[in-house]
Amino acid sequence: MRMETTFRAGLEGVVAAQTRLSSVDGDRGELLIGGFPVGELAPRARFEEVVHLLWHGDLPAEAELRELRRQLAGLRRVPPATLDLLRAAAAGRLPAMEALRMAVGSLSLATSGDAQGDAALLVAQVPVLVAAYARLLQGQEPVEPDPGLSHAASYLYLLTGRVPSPEAVRALETYLNTAADHGLNASTFSARVIVSTESDLVSAVTGAIGALKGPLHGGAPGPALDMVFEIGSRERAEPELRARLERGERLMGFGHRIYKVRDPRAEVLARTVAPLYGANGQGEVYELALHVERLAVRLLEEYKPGRGLQTNVEFYTALVLHGLDLSPALFTPTFAVARVAGWTAHCLEQLRSNRIFRPQSVYTGATDRRWVPLEER
Ligand code: ACO
Repeated sequence: MRMETTFRAGLEGVVAAQTRLSSVDGDRGELLIGGFPVGELAPRARFEEVVHLLWHGDLPAEAELRELRRQLAGLRRVPPATLDLLRAAAAGRLPAMEALRMAVGSLSLATSGDAQGDAALLVAQVPVLVAAYARLLQGQEPVEPDPGLSHAASYLYLLTGRVPSPEAVRALETYLNTAADHGLNASTFSARVIVSTESDLVSAVTGAIGALKGPLHGGAPGPALDMVFEIGSRERAEPELRARLERGERLMGFGHRIYKVRDPRAEVLARTVAPLYGANGQGEVYELALHVERLAVRLLEEYKPGRGLQTNVEFYTALVLHGLDLSPALFTPTFAVARVAGWTAHCLEQLRSNRIFRPQSVYTGATDRRWVPLEER
């Protein structure tokens, strides 16, 4: 077999897997999840329906949905040693993504040993762990899970101790659905690489969380919201945005490596945001954010003509999650609550027709070195 010697930094343009889970077309601004356009699926589906779609290739029938809900609700109890780990992390004030990575790694204490069972355990546990840690950081005890609640309702309940409104649950589910899967992104690729060695799903998802935690992947929504708050008023928006662009800064929540038209997920979330802010008395923040968005897109075209810099998913993610009263520290962990559906589905897909990932590297080091004894160096 001929060796491929062309090096592509970041594997850009390299096709490394075949998948039936999601398809991203950046030029047309199209995202399909399990064959459905994201705008068709995300605002309608329960999160459990999307999980079923990703795991099994189809939407569940009513009995299947009931069974999946029962299964996930039955897996919400946190192993005591995992809880101890979260308490130690809270005492050390670790960032939530580090605590989550540690806690998920310890779920080997609760695995069933089969891949599908582990997928369910991981999807069920991630929101429980995130919510428990958020409370521990605030000096509060974790809330006892309520098995009667849906997956999304349970997450909000475990964060606050209050049963959320149907509108809040709908908004969260729409967000979770938009973020459930997105092609072969860095964390998903990490998960597939790990499981391709026939390692287990707990290891794969632990690695994926480590990849998601980096600021180049899961970290933008917090800064996008900070920018809106720092601008503070309509009058300050234009001078402030111009000043940032003239200093050569990037406007957070705009631009995307793949989408050169508006990110279809931003489109879906934009429709979700309006009713949330109508109900929570923070309409002014929403109005300001819309103003900043319109202005930013116009100014980006003025300062960076022809680059196609449009609003990305992170801008509206920040608005949805802020509208649900989640603190910015919870934005990336909530991304993990959604994406664990995709990670586990990719692991199951990889295992169904597995070949271990083993790319090549091009050696660029020295070739003619000779050993020098320690005392002569
Ligand atoms: N604000 C200002 N200028 C920008 C922005 C931005 N948000 N994004 C890109 N540009 C400019 C660059 O400075 C560059 O200008 P130049 O050609 O004069 O040097 C040009 O547009 C092209 O930029 P690239 O860096 O080549 O674009 P790339 O595709 O690599 O970047 C990225 C994509 C990283 C998302 C970038 O747009 C960015 O930094 N955005 C802000 C951060 C952000 O919102 N990240 C979340 C992305 S969504 C997600 O990851 C799920």
